Amino acid sequence: MRPISDFIGDLPKAELHLHIEGTLEPEMVFELAERNRVRLRHRSPEELRAAYDFNSLQEFLDLYYQGMGVLHTEDDFCDLTLAYMRRAAADSVRHAEIFFDPQAHASRGVPFPVVLDGIAEGLRRAERELGVTSRLILCFLRDRDAAEAMATLEVALPYCDRIVGVGLDSAEVGHPPSKFREVFARARAEGFLAVAHAGEEGPPAYVAEALDVLGAVRIDHGVRAAEDRALVRRLAAEAVPLTVCPLSNLRLAVYDSLDKHPLRRLAEAGVPVTINSDDPPYFGGYINDNYRAVQETFGFSRDELAGFARASFAASFLDPADKARHIAEVDAYLATG
Ligand code: HPA
Ligand code: ZN
Repeated sequence: MRPISDFIGDLPKAELHLHIEGTLEPEMVFELAERNRVRLRHRSPEELRAAYDFNSLQEFLDLYYQGMGVLHTEDDFCDLTLAYMRRAAADSVRHAEIFFDPQAHASRGVPFPVVLDGIAEGLRRAERELGVTSRLILCFLRDRDAAEAMATLEVALPYCDRIVGVGLDSAEVGHPPSKFREVFARARAEGFLAVAHAGEEGPPAYVAEALDVLGAVRIDHGVRAAEDRALVRRLAAEAVPLTVCPLSNLRLAVYDSLDKHPLRRLAEAGVPVTINSDDPPYFGGYINDNYRAVQETFGFSRDELAGFARASFAASFLDPADKARHIAEVDAYLATG
């Protein structure tokens, strides 16, 4: 039988938690800085990569916002997106649901249509070239005020046919989901699906709030829900998917080692957990690196790994027929792989 690492390599899967701006490899930061005549604080890609050593979400966010300062034109966003999609396809990703942060670009003078058209063109080319499908999720920055989020939603409305949902990211603690009640109510009324980062650094109560106040149908991270047994029972009973990012949690010091990570406990409690990469170059791994790291830590079998892959399609925003087709591909792969 093939090594389990190779089994993971070819296992068909969906990526459901991925920030497109967080896929900037240091080499691309330097390439785009030169193209757009942006001055950088670091002298080489190696020096920049060496700075990816964080003790908290905020330390990461400071570099993340700095890094995306090289993105200016539609072509920049298209190149970034296509580079990620090619890398994802190499990891047997068949479908990707991708976050973008329009406020982080508008505040640098990059208008919404430049960002959206560039990303959308990259996604179109990826589907044509690689057969990988995708959806886009607009994230509001929770450490800015709700009025700015509402204004962003209004700017995005004419493009709603290209955006499946809205989410909530950036610094979590002190910025509870309830701050965005009206924004999410409006977004849902306009037909967007709702997701939210919750329970990454913030308390389990933020996870419940994201469900009850924002109408979230999927929780990004959600790992700190494991601290509240009643909440875990609820997530299992209501089949609320969590988009878990193990290497991100490790690199942002949510857990000091992977064996303390609640992934296995949550899965065994019946919560639909999925495995994802968040911001791969910043956290030292793409989606297969995340699958391999948790397999090594928890000793997951081929069956269990296929279960995570099935869960990723089931929790996606694909149509039921497409979900079934991808899940059948996982089943066929497990039978032979
Ligand atoms: N958490 C919150 N905000 C983010 C993240 C994250 O992991 N990545 C990019 N923005
Ligand atoms: Zn995230």
